[in-house]
Amino acid sequence: MITISFINMKGGVGKTTSAVEIGAILAKEHDYDVLIIDLDPQTNATLSLISLQEWEIVKDTGTVADVLGMNKGISSREVEFDINDAIIEDVCDISGLDLIPSHLELTFLDLDLSGHPGRESILQSQLEKTEKDYDFVIIDCPPNLTLAPQNALVVSDYIIVPVVPEIFPAIGLPLLINRIKSLKKRLPNCEVDILGIMFTKVKRNTNLHKQQIDSLRKANDKDGIYTFQTIIPETVRISEAISESKPALLVNPNSDGVESYRTFVNELLLQFEEE
Ligand SMILES: Nc1ncnc2c1ncn2[C@@H]1O[C@H](COP(=O)(O)OP(=O)(O)O)[C@@H](O)[C@H]1O
Ligand SMILES: [Mg+2]
Repeated sequence: MITISFINMKGGVGKTTSAVEIGAILAKEHDYDVLIIDLDPQTNATLSLISLQEWEIVKDTGTVADVLGMNKGISSREVEFDINDAIIEDVCDISGLDLIPSHLELTFLDLDLSGHPGRESILQSQLEKTEKDYDFVIIDCPPNLTLAPQNALVVSDYIIVPVVPEIFPAIGLPLLINRIKSLKKRLPNCEVDILGIMFTKVKRNTNLHKQQIDSLRKANDKDGIYTFQTIIPETVRISEAISESKPALLVNPNSDGVESYRTFVNELLLQFEEE
């Protein structure tokens, strides 16, 4: 099992889109068993994979909020929530693509679990109890480094940092990387490594993006951080899929946006072969 989190403190950089498309491609086109965990209370990954109606049904009985030990006061049972009760199997009719949906309540995770010992390791101990033996667990994180993403860091083997190659999204990058390094030291049993930086929403016909990519590649090379060769172009074929609660892989399977995610997945899988 390889666990990968998509992290960046910036919003709107393609974390959710990348987690969903990459997860869907790994399951549908490479036959892997994939679990996507939506750790963002904004529930964007959830609603890219199931309908609002479907989410309304599961939201009170099994979401990542329950997995992380919230809502305990509501239930009179003292028994711990079973992670398997929160897993929705074969979402979007893609066999092998499972989802743990998010919940708006997750916003209050830090408050609810303050003083709870081992609160950064709850997801890790829960993931040991899944009935299925997943090949990949893909975690979509909110744009911060609070308790939910800290749980993601503890359980992850790798993080991928999506970056839009503009001046402003890129200036926070060294800060993010330093924060992750210091969290890694502080969090119990955290072995996470930065797999690489991926460039998303790239405007192909502007020089600015090209220059930014070149200079970010150089700077990160120096720091020993990999930048993926495959870049994801900005295209409406990607952004319009969300309105159908489906990955672009299903809505626009032959678009160049999806094609670039396919190439990205091949580059990703190559990383693991080399190890
Ligand atoms: N390659 C792309 N081309 C065009 N729009 C994109 C692309 N990737 C993401 N988007 C859109 O940009 C917005 C932010 O993307 P999202 O994946 O939700 O970012 P994050 O999770 O980092 O906040 C969404 O509306 C999404 O549909
Ligand atoms: Mg998101």
